[in-house]
Amino acid sequence: MKIVDEIVGTGGLGGLARMTEVIAELETRRTELIEQLRSQRLASWEEIGQACGMTRQGASRRWSKQAQATSFGDAAAAYQSGRPSYPASAVDWLVPDEARRVLDLGAGTGKLTQLLVGRGLEVTAVEPLAEMRERLVAAVPGVAVLDGSAELIPLGDASVDAVVVAQAWHWFEPALAVPEIARVLVPGGTLGLVWNVRDHSEPWVTELDRVLHRHTRQEIETRPEIGGSFGPVERLEVRWEHVLTRAELLDLVASRSYVITMPKDDRAELMNQVSELLDTHLDLRGRKKLTMPYLTRCTRAQLAR
Ligand SMILES: C[S@@+](CC[C@H](N)C(=O)[O-])C[C@H]1O[C@@H](n2cnc3c(N)ncnc32)[C@H](O)[C@@H]1O
Repeated sequence: MKIVDEIVGTGGLGGLARMTEVIAELETRRTELIEQLRSQRLASWEEIGQACGMTRQGASRRWSKQAQATSFGDAAAAYQSGRPSYPASAVDWLVPDEARRVLDLGAGTGKLTQLLVGRGLEVTAVEPLAEMRERLVAAVPGVAVLDGSAELIPLGDASVDAVVVAQAWHWFEPALAVPEIARVLVPGGTLGLVWNVRDHSEPWVTELDRVLHRHTRQEIETRPEIGGSFGPVERLEVRWEHVLTRAELLDLVASRSYVITMPKDDRAELMNQVSELLDTHLDLRGRKKLTMPYLTRCTRAQLAR
């Protein structure tokens, strides 16, 4: 194809880099196009699969938001091992001093739940996946854990002072979740959202993301609006470092939803590339512990009184 020749040019490493960049851009566009086709009900998974040279199952497993959201169960152990916790100053900011009853929504394996319980709060964790709930119960013994979702919360009206959502808001359907969260909160209660985002001030982190983006470019909105009966959003950003072993870093990669749902061969190739980076990068090779810098992005809003 003429366009491919233009991108590759005279070849070499420059050609390879340009080609990689274009492939990543095309992947992003393909995902957007599929989301549009699905949300407007213009094509079935069967048709999308055909257009992409895949089976219906392959296409829906790869691109369906629901399939990705439920994929965590397959990698609950890697999730618990590799994913970072949250800095204390972020939790201080997300949960108001006067709050006693706190709902951790989309609680996963309990990374945030553990910190909330450690503060002596009365915590309820809601999580839709059984595999994640099992880990949560083991990691945070005695905490109340319920099967449920952001769109259907198994709690009574005005039953909690604060709701926190760690690394999970992007999986929710805001049109259903926002009124449902408003229902379980007391008037004036707080909704707090948090994401850990890798900070690219370390060259090796940029390099790691380049490897990951060769396979996908999953963009998550980490500064969302909330709307509904909530007041204006406030934001906080905290920089901190997570020290982890090589095995934990591999688990961190393996616990990403888009990695879990990748075809087996692609996933093996990606994991090999990350191992290679760990073995060869000057800042990483031979190191027993790695220091991953994070930006923790927080958003909070108060329900109308
Ligand atoms: C990336 S994990 C975050 C887990 C945990 N909050 C943490 O900080 O480690 C996302 C979690 O959201 C859950 N989830 C996905 N869709 C959800 C929904 N609609 N309602 C509630 N939880 C959901 C997933 O099952 C998964 O456990």
